[in-house]
Formats: sequence, structure tokens, C-alpha cells
Amino acid sequence: MKFFVDTADTEEIRELADTGLLDGVTTNPSLIAKSGRDFFDVIKEICSLVDGPVSAEVAATDYDTMLEEGKKLAGLADNVAVKVPLTMAGLKTCSQLAKQGTQVNVTLCFSAAQAILAAKAGAAYISPFVGRLDDIGQDGMNMISDVVQIYANYPAFQTEVLVASIRNPTHIVNSALMGADVCTVPPQVLKQLVSHPLTDKGLAAFLADWEKTGQKIL
Ligand code: G3P
Repeated sequence: MKFFVDTADTEEIRELADTGLLDGVTTNPSLIAKSGRDFFDVIKEICSLVDGPVSAEVAATDYDTMLEEGKKLAGLADNVAVKVPLTMAGLKTCSQLAKQGTQVNVTLCFSAAQAILAAKAGAAYISPFVGRLDDIGQDGMNMISDVVQIYANYPAFQTEVLVASIRNPTHIVNSALMGADVCTVPPQVLKQLVSHPLTDKGLAAFLADWEKTGQKIL
């Protein structure tokens, strides 16, 4: 399973990239606004920090403008994946950009039916939002299970399932159990993944016992 980080904070990205655990980055207009920085500067900087795909989202809603924006974003760096919303204009843009060899991430997916359309449009990634479905009392992970199963039924579908709107480590573990390709994870959830109180307790005990031996490795 691949790990992307869902942020436009370049310091956080740099820190995570150094761990070797990071396979890509996703951004969205809200994350760009939160960064307070120029969109193009941020995307170019992120693309220089990671080798994997960096999602940059169009801002238009009509096909012609979305396509032009998508081409401009794709020209910023080789590893840009253009992000388009799951609307009819977004799917049409996806189809056209994919034909031109651009990686497209179709975002704001809230149903398996929508995910089928994204695969047919040649998306490199489909981003189903699990947390936002949970927030309205539905089970986001059921959608992931359905999408993974549907895509597996049709080997011609090359679209990777990129689980988005992740709120906790359980979303990630269940995504892995279901065989989702990618999780895009907020930095704070990535940090939660590594923590376990028994790891901390066990390490403290090992270090205390090692101290008693009076030995050194270096
Ligand atoms: O980047 C798309 C998605 O991950 C947003 O998540 O937390 O705003 O629902 P959230």
C-alpha cells in the first residue's frame, strides 16, 4: 500500500519525505488556502521534495477552462497529477487529459457509482472521501470495499483507489485489509500510526536494563 500525505505544508512534507515512508502528496484548494502561499510556488516546491505524484486541483467548473488549467498544472513538473472534481465536466476533462498522457486524480467521490465513471474516464486515481461520509452517518469504508471489488472485476480499469478524507489509523488498516492502493493521510494521523503505549513502555524498560549493563555499542 502506498502512503500519500494530505497537506500543502512543505515543512511537514520535507520531514515525512526524509523518513522514506512517503509515496506522494495530495493537496486541495482548502489546504492551499491554509498554507497562505502562492499556489504555483507551493506545488513546484512539493514536486521537488517528493518523487511520487503530487495532486494539484483545478479551480474552474466548466470543461474548457478546467482543461486549460489542467494543462497548465501538468506543465509545472513531471510528477503533477491534475485533480478534477467528480462532475460531468470533470470526467470529460479527465478523459481528455488522460488521452494526452497526464495523470488525473478524480476527487470528491462519494459513491461506488461515481468511481465506476472515473475509471471509465481513464483516471489514474479515484479519491473516495471516507471521513466526510462517516460525518453524515454513513459508513465510508463500505464504499471503499465496493470500489476495490468493482475495479478488481474489470482488469481493464487501471484506476488506483486513493482513500481520502481519512480521520484515524483504523481507516488506514481497514483500507489495507480491503486492498486499496493508496491512503492519503493527514500528517497528524500518520504520526498516530506509529504510536503504541506498549512500544513506549517496552523501550523504556529495555533502555533501563541496558543502562545497568554499563556497556556501549558505539
Ligand atoms: O484532500 C481531500 C481529502 O482528503 C479531504 O479530507 O479531511 O477535508 O475531509 P477532509
